[in-house]
Amino acid sequence: MLNRFEAIFNILYVGLGCLLATTVALSTDTGSDGNAVNTGASTLNNVISEDPEFTDVIENITVPAGRNVKLACSVKNLGSYKVAWMHFEQSAILTVHNHVITRNPRISVTHDKHDKHRTWFLHINNVQEEDRGRYMCQINTVTAKTQYGFVKVVVPPNIDDALTSSDIIVREGDNVTLRCKAKGSPEPAIKWKRDDGNKIVINKSLEVHDLEADSLELERISRLHMGAYLCIASNGVPPSVSKRIKVSVDFSPMVWIPHQLVGIPMGFNITLECFIEANPTSLNYWTRENDQMIIESYKYDVLAAMKWIACILFIPICAAFTAQKTESDPNTRLLDNILSYVVGDASACGNYFEYACGKYATRHIDDSFTEIIQMLDHKVNKNLVLLMEELNQRSQSAVLNESSVEAKALQFYITCRDASLNTRSAEHYLRLAPPDKGLTWPQLTPGETAWPKEQFKWIKTLGYLHRYGLTNVIVSVMVTQNFENSSEFLLNLSMPSFEEESQHLNSFMETLATLHVMKVPSKSVVPLARKIRRLEHAIRILAEADDDDDESQFMSVQRLEYRTGLNWQMFIELLVDHRISPNFRVQVRNLHYFTALKVLMETSDAQMVASYIMTRFVLYLLNDSMGDRSPIECIKDMRRGMDQASNLIYKERFLEPATLQQFTKEVIELFDQLRRQFQLHIDKNSLGLTSRQNRMVGTKVQDIVLNIGNIPRGRDHRSFVSQYYKDLEFPSADLDYSREHLKLLEFRTQKQMAKLYQPAPSKDEFFFISDPDTAMSSTPYYMIRQNIIIVPHGLFQEPFFVSDSHDVFKYSLLGFTIAHELIHSVDTTGLLFDSLGNADKTGTEISTSPRFEAGLVCMNRNSTQYLDERVADISGLDLAYSAYLRIAKDRNYTDFANTSLEQIFFLNLAQFFCGDSHPTNFVDHDEDQIRLQQMLHGFAPFHKAFGCQTRSFYPEKCQLW
Ligand SMILES: *[C@@H]1O[C@H](CO)[C@@H](O)[C@H](O)[C@H]1NC(C)=O
Ligand SMILES: *[C@@H]1O[C@H](CO)[C@@H](O)[C@H](O)[C@H]1NC(C)=O
Ligand SMILES: *[C@@H]1O[C@H](CO)[C@@H](O)[C@H](O)[C@H]1NC(C)=O
Ligand SMILES: *[C@@H]1O[C@H](CO)[C@@H](O)[C@H](O)[C@H]1NC(C)=O
Repeated sequence: MLNRFEAIFNILYVGLGCLLATTVALSTDTGSDGNAVNTGASTLNNVISEDPEFTDVIENITVPAGRNVKLACSVKNLGSYKVAWMHFEQSAILTVHNHVITRNPRISVTHDKHDKHRTWFLHINNVQEEDRGRYMCQINTVTAKTQYGFVKVVVPPNIDDALTSSDIIVREGDNVTLRCKAKGSPEPAIKWKRDDGNKIVINKSLEVHDLEADSLELERISRLHMGAYLCIASNGVPPSVSKRIKVSVDFSPMVWIPHQLVGIPMGFNITLECFIEANPTSLNYWTRENDQMIIESYKYDVLAAMKWIACILFIPICAAFTAQKTESDPNTRLLDNILSYVVGDASACGNYFEYACGKYATRHIDDSFTEIIQMLDHKVNKNLVLLMEELNQRSQSAVLNESSVEAKALQFYITCRDASLNTRSAEHYLRLAPPDKGLTWPQLTPGETAWPKEQFKWIKTLGYLHRYGLTNVIVSVMVTQNFENSSEFLLNLSMPSFEEESQHLNSFMETLATLHVMKVPSKSVVPLARKIRRLEHAIRILAEADDDDDESQFMSVQRLEYRTGLNWQMFIELLVDHRISPNFRVQVRNLHYFTALKVLMETSDAQMVASYIMTRFVLYLLNDSMGDRSPIECIKDMRRGMDQASNLIYKERFLEPATLQQFTKEVIELFDQLRRQFQLHIDKNSLGLTSRQNRMVGTKVQDIVLNIGNIPRGRDHRSFVSQYYKDLEFPSADLDYSREHLKLLEFRTQKQMAKLYQPAPSKDEFFFISDPDTAMSSTPYYMIRQNIIIVPHGLFQEPFFVSDSHDVFKYSLLGFTIAHELIHSVDTTGLLFDSLGNADKTGTEISTSPRFEAGLVCMNRNSTQYLDERVADISGLDLAYSAYLRIAKDRNYTDFANTSLEQIFFLNLAQFFCGDSHPTNFVDHDEDQIRLQQMLHGFAPFHKAFGCQTRSFYPEKCQLW
């Protein structure tokens, strides 16, 4: 037998002799065999009469890295001679005739067949920097004929963050050097500019518009230097790139008083002006001779004077500053936005939703979102699209570290966008996720062979598929905390639920279509659809029969197997991916269901059971992915599957540390105020609770932790996320959407299963392994067993939350949503658990106490399926409003606009509910219009704010928390 190389050389033939003469590299490849064929070559060549010749020069090529190029070598009279391509500097033979010699997979060779072998093309795919140099085209005539062409590889500039300065804060008088380093080919030139277009002050006598240098030295820095600087790298290969470096200069306050002595008749009002320049912004106050601080009062309106930030020395900067200030005053911006939704001639008292949100639909007619949180997420997604494109550019010049979180997210994103459509087909998924090792799904079994039903074990198949997160099909499996001991995680087995749309087969048409896309033969589609629907119906009947058996029991797997006759040990071993002992403890509900299930499964046709599971699996997968390859949908897919990665890269790129710190501080402060207000409500004890009951509620609310960004609080974010994805790898060779999708699903299940073997995380270590829908939304949520409120980063965007806006905006929107989540800790479900997440009877006593029950009846007078949500809405509004009133009283606000603060409160509250979604799109909540209406019904401050009729006209406000 010939080895691979010998075989190639035998086919390759003779040219080798000539090539050997000019090329060193080859001798190592051929060894003595190469010489052996040599003699035969000359004999062959002697037969040819006319010598071959080149007919055209090789064009030189300049190409950006990452592209494909081809070099053309044109010859005539080639006869039986051969054309070879070589890389001159590397002394490497690339191709000979039709054969590729190099092991570089990016190289290939073609020739123009119709042109009598005249033109030989050397193709280099995905050109890299190392491909630059001189390429030689050679004909193996006795004295070899050669000609050359040059490939010049250019690489657009890329700024090396590690060697480039980042934002700095310095004191006036310091010397500062800003550095900037960029890679690229040719070597990029660095230019500095100020972002605001002003000149750069090099020293007292020199100001320049821009400066070409690797570093920018600012001597004895002054406030004149403050601002953002751009370092721009360019090398003639687009795109040029830039980095923005912010230089903040701290200096102590300077005061300027335009009128140092003012005379005024008694009884007149006067405004004293004081201009202050300082960075960071100074805390300003007025005093009289006695050194006492003047607090705002009817006599001194300090607010106006305090707002001044003015400049003595640098009037031009100052002018720019104030001009910008008026147009971008956040309060004005927010108010303008709110008012743009208002329908002025609708009645605020009659139909508040129409009044406050009436123009929503027309303003957002072309938008893909239907309400404010979706709008925030749309902005997040758009930002992430840009970021991914940026990363993609960077990765092409090979600077992206392959094991970085960015590279992994990018790989999934690119796969989503560019993988061929057939890697998304149901059939492809099913081939990647078979029912068992060595078994295919029935319709994918090749040829005429019958499907080996005896090999199929339904419980084993469920085990395999549950690894991809499939649950609630025949069996429901979850990792949950023990009710009585929240520090213990257990595997919880119960019967499936059929409540939600995704929890059962829907229309007959959908079943037919699903079987069809799974490549079930057409003639079997209809009968099979009937059969599997009948099977589901039978399972449902079993489940309904067992409906009142909701006591959970703890037992060993061994005992469970004994009780049900089903092979649970194997099932669980598949889930956790290793062996378990027969003593492995599980939490089980619905034992009767499982016993009956065994009988049902034994009497059902195996192929039909397999088809049912397969259909539910495919529906689950289709439902889990956005199914569209547009950038924005792929970003959603990325957020769904890689929430922690998306979270990190969004935060690092779009939330500056200082801004985030400010947001965090304000949100925590807001939350503390809400909590304090709640404590005041408890102290009033309008529910007439016992002191033990009051204590339970108080402790529970005191212990709530706010987790901003769903990050373990005690950890460095980047190292946490890198560690989290350490074991996740996507091969980059071929793009396969299903494979990567399944991989992410499996990855998440493993993370969940891992909880069974780890101690329960402390509140500082806790983060939520988000389900996909939660992962791609910025809605805050309450985690009932952990007693934690999670506030996603996406909320820190205008118009939802602006850091330096008036409190009325903060309390009415973000404040309300957090208050709503806070109340969830003490709604009828929240009360079931104490602050540690353990079941507590005290809570049930509270929710069945007379006044509490009366409150619930009141809230349910216009009945709702989602009573806990209504509780959270109504009590949450009460809490947010009263907390606002309390702090507003301390701060003695005056109105800052024509709209009263009270009206602004309720208008901004409405922003959470304004939208144009179809009523059927609301999940787990009443539709927004009803929510808003129910909250404001009988809420006296609202009626007062809009001058609605006397309270007796409206129903009583419901009393709960
Ligand atoms: C290609 O570049 C080389 C070296 O720069 C030069 O000698 C040669 O003439 C060029 N060939 C063509 C076709 O321009
Ligand atoms: C800044 O540089 C100047 C000139 O090189 C030098 O005289 C001065 O002492 C430096 N200042 C500081 C704070 O290093
Ligand atoms: C002084 O200011 C108060 C409060 O703004 C106002 O009610 C009063 O009319 C003013 N007095 C004069 C003389 O302008
Ligand atoms: C209940 O709903 C109906 C119809 O939406 C409405 O007319 C009525 O005022 C509501 N009643 C209360 C008490 O909210």
